[in-house]
Order: sequence, then C-alpha cells, then structure tokens
Amino acid sequence: MNSRRSRLLAVALAGAAAAAARRRATAGLDTSDLTGRTAVVTGGGSGIGRSLVVLLARRGAHVHVVDRDLARAQGVVVEVRAAGGSAVAHAVDVSDAAAVGALADTVFAEGRVDLLFNNAGIGHAGAVVDTTLADWKALVDVNLMGVVHGLHAFLPRLVAQDGQAHVVNTASMAGLFPSPGLVPYSTTKAAVVGLSEAVDREVVRDGVRVHALCPGIIATDIIRTSTMRGPWADKQAVVEQMYATRGTSPDVVARQALDAVARGRTVIPTPRHQVVPPWLVKRASPSAGAALAGAMARVVSR
Ligand SMILES: NC(=O)c1ccc[n+]([C@@H]2O[C@H](COP(=O)([O-])OP(=O)(O)OC[C@H]3O[C@@H](n4cnc5c(N)ncnc54)[C@H](O)[C@@H]3O)[C@@H](O)[C@H]2O)c1
Repeated sequence: MNSRRSRLLAVALAGAAAAAARRRATAGLDTSDLTGRTAVVTGGGSGIGRSLVVLLARRGAHVHVVDRDLARAQGVVVEVRAAGGSAVAHAVDVSDAAAVGALADTVFAEGRVDLLFNNAGIGHAGAVVDTTLADWKALVDVNLMGVVHGLHAFLPRLVAQDGQAHVVNTASMAGLFPSPGLVPYSTTKAAVVGLSEAVDREVVRDGVRVHALCPGIIATDIIRTSTMRGPWADKQAVVEQMYATRGTSPDVVARQALDAVARGRTVIPTPRHQVVPPWLVKRASPSAGAALAGAMARVVSR
C-alpha cells in the first residue's frame, strides 16, 4: 500500500473511531433496568417528583428523595420501601445553595450518582402588571436558581466520575411558548430549557447528558400551592379542578422522561400528544405559535 493510501486509511479509521466514541457518549442510559444505580430527585415529595421516585425505585435504583417538606419526602420513602425499593429522604430547600452543596457532599460520600432530577418548582399565574417583585424573586430563586444550584453542586463531580450520568431539569411547556398569564413562571422555564440545551453540549463529551423535561398540564398539587394574582386569584379553584380532571397523570410524565433519557433526547415534551403539536406550530411559524399560545391561555383561565 502506498503512503497516500495508508494516510487516507488512517484518517478514515480515526474518523470512524471518533464517530463511535461520539455515539457512545450521546447514547442514553438503559433506564429499563436501574439496578445498582443511584438517583437524586428534588421536589420528590409530590406530583411529578414523586412519580419519578416511585418509577426509578421500581426499576431498581436507590433514590434520594429531596424536598423542602420533609414529611412529604418521608411519605414517599415509606411508599417505596413498602414496595421493596430503596430510598432515603432529605429536607433541602433548593433555593439555598449551601444546602444543595451539603446534599451533594452527602450523596457522593456514598458513591457515584447516575441520574439527577432538578425537578422542584413552584407555580404562579397572573398578568405582569399584577405581579410583585417578591413573586418574581421567589420564582427565580426556586425554578431557576434551584436548577443552577443543582448543576453547580453536582455537575463537576458527575463529569469527574467514570461512566455515564444524566441530569434532567424540569422546565415546562410554558418554557417552549410565549405564555400570557404565566410570564414570570415561563421566564424561569424558558431559561431552564436554554441552559439545559447549552450545558448538554458542554458536557456531552464527558459522558454527561443534560435534558429539559417539558410537561404540559399535569394533575399534581402545583395549582393548589401556586401564587395567583389579579383576576387569576378568583379562578384558582376552577383551574385546580381543570388540572385535576383534565391533566395527565404524573406517572405518564415519569415514564416518558425515563424513555427519553434512554433515547438521549435533550428536550423532552410530555405528554407528547399535548406538547409536541403546538411546539411544532411555534417552530414552523412563531406568529402562529404566539396566537395558539394566547388561545391556550384563554382556555386554561376560562
Ligand atoms: N403540574 C404541571 O402541570 C406542571 C407542568 C409543567 C411543569 N411542571 C413542573 O414540574 C415540577 C414539579 O411540579 P409538580 O407539578 O409535581 O408540583 P407539586 O407541587 O406536586 O410538587 C412540587 C414539589 O416540590 C417541592 N418544592 C417546592 N419548592 C421547593 C424548594 N424550594 N426546595 C425543595 N423542594 C421544593 C414541593 O414541596 C413539592 O413536594 C415543577 O418544576 C413544576 O414547575 C409542572
């Protein structure tokens, strides 16, 4: 073989090896069997977080259930253990950077972490003109800084450890569209989508994937505990009822989240039938998407 041919062959082989390494780095974890894996779920005491904890434990993971409401986290741990799973509760407010750092120290002292769900969040509805600065700060502190604190405390050690790991940040359908009536909430969630997509590209070659989970209308406690301003305040009971009766089960969100992690999807719309069509409309035509988002907001607040 002449030297030009052997150089070409060497380049082709190097390219194939690099492509294989890229495929290995971007392929997701097998989430159907999580035996021996460790997961951390913030906001694990209720709703989507609780469903994630139960499913992760059922598939064999040891789960750290993190919530600012310790009694709720402990209730989920009792449920998991009764079903033969393994879980432990932690009282942590994700808006407290030092507390999240201490959580990471405790968890990593036991060994590696395979899955981190930065899921804790709070709700808010109301026009911007009716929203107080304290409302804005509370939302940013929990929904955005809570995710940032999770990344800051866990990511360097996820990158440094061997093997694959996944971080799933709970954003929202409201982070994918303009959402009148939900502006402060959707601001935090759009930020979570953007940071997840960008951080994913930063750490993918280190074997860590970062995902943005974007649920639609899910039947959880979130509306009951949301802050509602202006005319929305009078509709809290109606919206709560609508979420309870027409919302999707958080168990569906948990299943679709683990499936999407296994497939290596960065943005995870869920339930797909609810979130994907309007998301596609917005991507195809931002003005049509904005009109649709306005119509959807009117339906929710009727
Ligand atoms: N329910 C929906 O329709 C919906 C839709 C899109 C996105 N989300 C997002 O899903 C996530 C979970 O919400 P959910 O619907 O399951 O609500 P939920 O109220 O049922 O559960 C949220 C849990 O997070 C905990 N929590 C709140 N603030 C916390 C903090 N500062 N530190 C630690 N724990 C805290 C609460 O105690 C609660 O146990 C949130 O980020 C929310 O914004 C929900």
